[in-house]
Amino acid sequence: PHARLTIDPEFTVGPVPRRLFGSFAEHMGRCIYTGIFEPDHPTADEDGLRGDVLELVRQVGPTVVRYPGGNFVSGYDWEDGVGPREERPRRLDRAWRTVETNQFGLDEFATWAQKAGTEVMMAVNLGTRGMQEACDLLEYANHPSGTRLSDLRRSHGRQDPYGITLWCLGNEMDGPWQTGHKTAHEYARLAAETARAMRTVDPSVELVACGSSGRGMATFGEWERVVLEETYEDVDMISAHAYYEEAQTGEDTVGDFLASAKDMDAFIEEVVATADAVRARGRHRKHVGISFDEWNVWYQTPWRDSDRANARTAWDVAPRVIEDEYSVTDAVVVGTLLNSLLRHGDRVTVGAQAQLVNVIGLLRSEEGGPAWKQTIAHPFEQMRHRATGAILDVRTRGDQVSTARFDDVDLVDAAATWDEESGVLSLFLANRSEHEAGDVEVPLRAFVGEMRVAEALVLAAGEGQDRHTTNTQAAPDAVGMRPLEGVVVQDATARVTLPPLSWA
Ligand code: AHR
Repeated sequence: PHARLTIDPEFTVGPVPRRLFGSFAEHMGRCIYTGIFEPDHPTADEDGLRGDVLELVRQVGPTVVRYPGGNFVSGYDWEDGVGPREERPRRLDRAWRTVETNQFGLDEFATWAQKAGTEVMMAVNLGTRGMQEACDLLEYANHPSGTRLSDLRRSHGRQDPYGITLWCLGNEMDGPWQTGHKTAHEYARLAAETARAMRTVDPSVELVACGSSGRGMATFGEWERVVLEETYEDVDMISAHAYYEEAQTGEDTVGDFLASAKDMDAFIEEVVATADAVRARGRHRKHVGISFDEWNVWYQTPWRDSDRANARTAWDVAPRVIEDEYSVTDAVVVGTLLNSLLRHGDRVTVGAQAQLVNVIGLLRSEEGGPAWKQTIAHPFEQMRHRATGAILDVRTRGDQVSTARFDDVDLVDAAATWDEESGVLSLFLANRSEHEAGDVEVPLRAFVGEMRVAEALVLAAGEGQDRHTTNTQAAPDAVGMRPLEGVVVQDATARVTLPPLSWA
C-alpha cells in the first residue's frame, strides 16, 4: 500500500493529555499478588513490592494507574485492605470467584504508585455500597487530619493526605455481570448524588461517571444520554471500555482485527456526539471528556468458556486468570488503538490500558521468577515517551480496504505529534497489510527549517518469526522495537517504507 500524509504544525487537535497513557491494576488473578506485590520474591523491597516489575513499569511509564477494579471494586470493602496486615480479613471475591487476602490495599498501592512515578486513579464501589462509603474512602485518602478516618490513615503510618484527584464513580454499572448492576436511571441518580457528596469532602476531585462497557451493549448511547442528563454538571468525564480479539473462525478475521481502531474511533466519536447533545440541550458551558479507562486486545472467547467464568472452579488465591500471551499482530493492533486515542486527545483526556501485569498484561511475571515485557508493551512505551507537545491533525490519502466488518479502512494508520520546543515531529505509523510493504510519504513543507531523521524504530516479525510470535519467559525479547532502515528526508518530504504488518 501507499499513503500520503498531510500535516501542518498550525493544524493541531490539542496538547497531548498527560493522562492518556495510563494503565490499570485490578485485584484480579495475578495482577496484584505475584504481579506487583510479592514479599518473598528475591527482588522485593521493604514494602513487599517486586523490584523487577517496578523497574519495567518505570520503563514503560504509565502516567496514571487505575485501582482496585474493575468488576472487583463492585463488591469491595476498602476498609478490609488497610491497617495491620495480620488483622485483615480473607473474603470471597464474587467477581472472579477467588479468595481475596487483603494483604494489599490502598496504602500499599499508593506507596507502589509513588515508587513507580505514576498517578493514582481510584474507583469507588457503587455496586454493593454507595455515597457514604465513597465519602469515607475519600476522607481516609485526602483529608489532612483531625477526623476519624484521616486520623485512622495517620495511625497506619501515613501522615500526609494522598491527594488523589481522579475518581471513578463505580465500574461498568451498565453490565448485567456487574455486582449491583443498575439501570441507567438508577445509576445516574446514585452517581450524581455521590459526586456532589464527594465534592463537599474534597472540591479538587475530578470525577468519571460510568459510560458503556462496550460499544456493542444494547444500552449504548441511551445509557450515556441518561447518565449525563443527570450528572452533567457534577462529573468531568464519562468512561468507555473496549476489548478486541481476532475471531478464531470466519473469513478475513485478521483484516477485521487489524481494523479494530476503526471501531474505537467510532466509539469515541459517538460518545462525544452524545455528550455534546446533552450539553446543547442543557445549555451547559463545559465539555465532558472521555476516560477510556479499559482498553486492550483480550481473547475473551476462551475466557468465557473457561471453568472459572462458568463457576466450575472457585476460591483460590491469585490464580492464573486471562494471562493472554500477545503476538506481533496483537502489538500492531495495540499500536493502532494508541493511534486512535491520540487522534482524539482533545476529548479523550484519560486512557488506561487494561491491565498492567499478568492479567491481559503489558508485563508478565512469574512467582519467584523473572518478569518481562509482552509485545504490546513496546508500542505503549514508545508512544508514552514520544507523543509530546501538540497532537497534529493528520489527513491520510492512500490505499484502503473493506473488511467483513469495516469499510474504508486505511491500510496505513497514522497519528503524529509536534513538539515545538524541542523541534521534534513524531510519526506513529501502522501498516495493516499482512503481506505487502507500505510506502508512506509525508511532505514537510509546512515545517520551518531543515528536518532530519532523528530515529526510526519498527515492530514487526523478524527473521524466523511470523505474525504469531510472542515474548515468552524463555525468549522475553523476541519481539520489540528494531531500527527501521531506509527512512529519508529529501526535498522537504519524508519517505518511509513499513514492513508488512508493522507499527513504527
Ligand atoms: O479488565 C478485566 C475486566 O474487564 C474488568 O474487571 C471489567 O471492568 C471489564 O469487564
